[in-house]
Amino acid sequence: MPLTLTVITANGSKFEVEVECDDTVESLKLRIKEKDGTPPDWNKTSSNPLDMAFSLRTANLDDCKDIARMILELAEYENLAEHVKVTQKDLEQDGFSNNPLFHGIIAEVPEQHKTKEGHTKIGYALYFYSYSSWSGRAIYMEDLYVMPEFRGKGVGKALMSKVAQLALAAGCHQLNFTVLDWNKPSMDFYLSQGCFDATATMGYHCMRCEGEALEHLAQL
Ligand SMILES: CC(C)(COP(=O)(O)OP(=O)(O)OC[C@H]1O[C@@H](n2cnc3c(N)ncnc32)[C@H](O)[C@@H]1OP(=O)(O)O)[C@@H](O)C(=O)NCCC(=O)NCCS
Repeated sequence: MPLTLTVITANGSKFEVEVECDDTVESLKLRIKEKDGTPPDWNKTSSNPLDMAFSLRTANLDDCKDIARMILELAEYENLAEHVKVTQKDLEQDGFSNNPLFHGIIAEVPEQHKTKEGHTKIGYALYFYSYSSWSGRAIYMEDLYVMPEFRGKGVGKALMSKVAQLALAAGCHQLNFTVLDWNKPSMDFYLSQGCFDATATMGYHCMRCEGEALEHLAQL
């Protein structure tokens, strides 16, 4: 009695595999075919969103429109959209001039997996280099975001891993970032990646001076 297995290849293609063996299981015959019986096309990509492929690359000037869009999406998720003042133009100036103040990584999906609004840029990480007077070079991850329909497929982990790779390559000893106290899914994600809560374990609080207080402080 042949046994039928479903095989999902690394590029997301799905094939039916028929397995036949004799009583002693000394010989095994594998027949791989498409559901319609034709031989498989190993290079085809799947149209099933669950089998999605994605790629990462360094952000460039042309990405600023999508970065600005996703910054707003992230802020909306955090219920803090009214705090977003940075525009596409600010990003273009601050990230892609001679002395960039931040760097970015973009996660992209192929055209066949674009969102219903037509987006192929579906996640990003923003980071910059900083310094710890205790342990030296450090990297600060300002944002990590994956669009809702692409979450849980390894994109966030791949983005953060890339930031970690760049950090180590630049001689950094720390990857720092903040997360809102109610954002349990993201906190759990970070904990699952081996990060720890520096507020809970070391008592650090994230402090800020802005607006009039900043102006005032500068005039003393
Ligand atoms: C947080 C976020 C970037 C994670 O990205 P993602 O693509 O959904 O996560 P991944 O699919 O890469 O998850 C990879 C790993 O994290 C784990 N993970 C993801 N979410 C998790 C959760 N809520 N609890 C526990 N583990 C979780 C996965 O199980 C997986 O572990 P494994 O590699 O051991 O199997 C994404 O969910 C997101 O954009 N959230 C909304 C915005 C946000 O909160 N950003 C962070 C602001 S600080």
